[in-house]
Amino acid sequence: MTAALADAAAAVLRGNDLGHLTVASPDLYPHQWSWDTAFVAVGISRLSVPRAVAEMTSLLAAQWPSGMIPHIVFDRPSAYFPGPERWRSELAIDPPALRTSGICQPPVHSVALACILQEGRRRGGSDRRTAEDFVAATLPGWLAWHRWLAESRDPEGHGLVEIHHSWESGMDNSPRWDFPYSRVVPGEMERFTRTDTRHVGEVRQRPTDEEYRRYIWLVDQMVAVRYDEEAIRKTIDFHVADVFFSALLALAAEIIGELAEEFGHRDDADEMLAVAARFRAGVAAAVDPETGLATDRDLRSGRLLHSATLSGFAPLISGADADVLARQRELLLGPDWCGHRELRHAVPPSTSPAAPQFDRRRYWRGPQWPVMTWLFSWAARRQGGAELAGRLREEALRQLGDLSFAEYYDPMSGQALGSRNQSWTAAAALDWMAWS
Ligand code: SER
Repeated sequence: MTAALADAAAAVLRGNDLGHLTVASPDLYPHQWSWDTAFVAVGISRLSVPRAVAEMTSLLAAQWPSGMIPHIVFDRPSAYFPGPERWRSELAIDPPALRTSGICQPPVHSVALACILQEGRRRGGSDRRTAEDFVAATLPGWLAWHRWLAESRDPEGHGLVEIHHSWESGMDNSPRWDFPYSRVVPGEMERFTRTDTRHVGEVRQRPTDEEYRRYIWLVDQMVAVRYDEEAIRKTIDFHVADVFFSALLALAAEIIGELAEEFGHRDDADEMLAVAARFRAGVAAAVDPETGLATDRDLRSGRLLHSATLSGFAPLISGADADVLARQRELLLGPDWCGHRELRHAVPPSTSPAAPQFDRRRYWRGPQWPVMTWLFSWAARRQGGAELAGRLREEALRQLGDLSFAEYYDPMSGQALGSRNQSWTAAAALDWMAWS
């Protein structure tokens, strides 16, 4: 079984490989996505360290002069909507290099750097050199990315990252964003046709048309100010502090800080470790003492956004005091989450089955996402939670035994949902299988 799973996962990654980059999935996401790339590179490093390096290098080539790494890189024509014609990145990047979207996604890239380096060193020889040379050569680019996030997305130093579109959170239609989106009222806008719903078994596995109108309205708002960050902060209708993104920045800055130290960039190391501490504190302060879950905040109204979603477990990603971690681990394994009696596999659902907004088949409103399980298990290992990591891994590998490598799964029936042959799902499987 294990060998069959590894072979099938490797075949998915080969099938989605364009040579210099791996598309996120064959039909639904036929381009390079920022956070997908990082997860994919972790998996590919188990097959080929040089190929994993190429994956990360191709993403970095799309970095904006500001330091931002855009969330989609469009390098070939396709029917994906919204494509480069709607994003119009050429308004911000002159001369236009690669055509990209104009927003970012959570900074999981340093997790990939750490994994590639570790795998290169484990293998030794030319793989070791390739991994070390790659980190040394690209460190300035990755530093610029984290610096841009810390400065542009938290200009007042609260330790929480602001986002301007729910696509930036990666959890597009999560109940986290129901309140802020209730305040986004699209006006006159250029017509559009969705392409995403063509590639899933049933429309209800994707966000609604109403949600899509809002998503595209926000894109148009950013295009209207040519992606000027200051103007976006003032004019965009969706403006929230994202606690999960913040936790990932805390984790990422800590890893980049450690790499900077190791590769002789002492000042950068100090700076990044201070960024990590700032965002870890921001996440800790956002934990609701009653529920034990971290909360987002709507910056337009000042309102706290309570939701029983995966983002509540942000401290398990950023790291926190031992008592907070212990409470969060207990909650995660408890009856409202992985331990819910109706779950087929004991891995975290994107929204608690006990929450009124729970929808077992709709994207981020209930389904289990293997890549999120991987992230929580990897972070748990790093934060001294080997037992949690092991339990998540075991259950997740059972879930992936259907060999569909789906984007997400129905938590109750275990049915594959969304895209099949999703690159990051295959990558997670490959990495888990290599754990000792
Ligand atoms: N997740 C978005 C999509 O569904 C884009 O980031 O296309």
